[in-house]
Parts: sequence; structure tokens; C-alpha cells
Amino acid sequence: MVGKEVRLKDGTPLVIREAREDDAEAMVAYMGEIGGESDFLTYGANDSRHTVEEEKQFLLKMKELPNSLFLAGFVRGGLACTANLLAEQKVRLAHNAEFGVSVRKQYWHLGAASALLAEILSFAKRNPVLKVIHLGVYDSNVRAVRLYEKFGFQKAGRHKDYFNVGGVFHDEILMDFIL
Ligand SMILES: CC(C)(COP(=O)(O)OP(=O)(O)OC[C@H]1O[C@@H](n2cnc3c(N)ncnc32)[C@H](O)[C@@H]1OP(=O)(O)O)[C@@H](O)C(=O)NCCC(=O)NCCS
Repeated sequence: MVGKEVRLKDGTPLVIREAREDDAEAMVAYMGEIGGESDFLTYGANDSRHTVEEEKQFLLKMKELPNSLFLAGFVRGGLACTANLLAEQKVRLAHNAEFGVSVRKQYWHLGAASALLAEILSFAKRNPVLKVIHLGVYDSNVRAVRLYEKFGFQKAGRHKDYFNVGGVFHDEILMDFIL
């Protein structure tokens, strides 16, 4: 995908493009920061544990995988949000992909996640192999569940006490989008 510019709800331009290996440093810094902005991620502030080199390798791999996509969104050149679709590699599972999204807190409620999800779904619908997109979300993350339902994801199940945030356990809601 070549870059695409959309407008956030407040008029700010958001440039969405496929993440590249030279985004690795910004990506690691971003994960460290957003981990401290929300309890709804699988990591907290600065415990993403990815080095820049590991992130570079991951981004390179994502670009090579035909059924996967890693998108980055930039506001005035700064990394503002990311979304990824990671397909299973085994032949019998290759039609399944997992979706994840995050937005820097200062850009929440402006349509950034919706813009990324629309791009991911457009990619997935054009892909001849993918059939199911699945995701997991904290059961108390009402905003994210609404976002996914808005795009047509349906609740498929629940993992009891899946997340442990500082000793407090939360269920995970599983959601599917059938392509
Ligand atoms: C969840 C998250 C990705 C949403 O990103 P966002 O850019 O703020 O989302 P959008 O502005 O595109 O809003 C998406 C939808 O969420 C829903 N929503 C937004 N605010 C809401 C609120 N206060 N209450 C209920 N639903 C709400 C709406 O359906 C909204 O769509 P609409 O604006 O068309 O009505 C973002 O808050 C985030 O990164 N949170 C921390 C990490 C996280 O939770 N990631 C998801 C892990 S599964």
C-alpha cells in the first residue's frame, strides 16, 4: 500500500502507510509510551521488551508475509497509531489472521482506529486466502468493543481471567469478522 491521507474528526491530516523497517526505532518508543497510557494493552509502560533490532526484523518479516499487513499512521511525521493483521503460517490455519490496533492517547476519539481498521478490512477482503479475522479485547474495553462491532465483528467467546494487570484479572472477549 502506498501512503494514504485521511482527515481526523478535528481536521488533522493522518498519513497511513505500511510500516517499514526504518520505523523500528519510532515503533519501540511508541510502544513504551502507549503502554503507560492504557490498561487495555498486553503490555505496560516500557515493558514491551522489543529491541530496535528485533522490531526491525519483525517489520521486515511482516512485509514479506503475503497475508499479513502492518500499518502505521503519522500526524505531522510523528507515529500516532498502528494496526496489524497477522496471518497464521500453517497451511491448515492460513485463512485466519489476528487483528490489533492502538492509538496514542492524544488522538483518541478522532477516528484514527476506524481509519486504520477500514484499510485493514479492505486489504483482507481483497486477499484470496483470508477468511476469518479474529481479535481479543479486555471485556471492560467498551470503546474498542463498540469500534469492532461498528465494523461487523461479532463476539465469539470469552477467556476467563486472561489478562493480569498488576494482580487484577480481566476476561478477554474474543471477536471474529468473517470475510
Ligand atoms: C480503542 C482505541 C483503539 C480506539 O481508537 P480511536 O481512534 O479512539 O477510535 P475511533 O475514534 O475510531 O472510535 C471508534 C469507535 O469507538 C466507539 N467509541 C468511541 N468513544 C466511545 C465512548 N466514549 N463510548 C463508547 N464507544 C465509543 C464508537 O463506536 C467510535 O466510532 P464513531 O466515532 O464512529 O462513533 C484507542 O482508544 C486505543 O488505542 N486504546 C488503547 C489501546 C486499546 O484499547 N487497543 C485495543 C486493544 S483490543
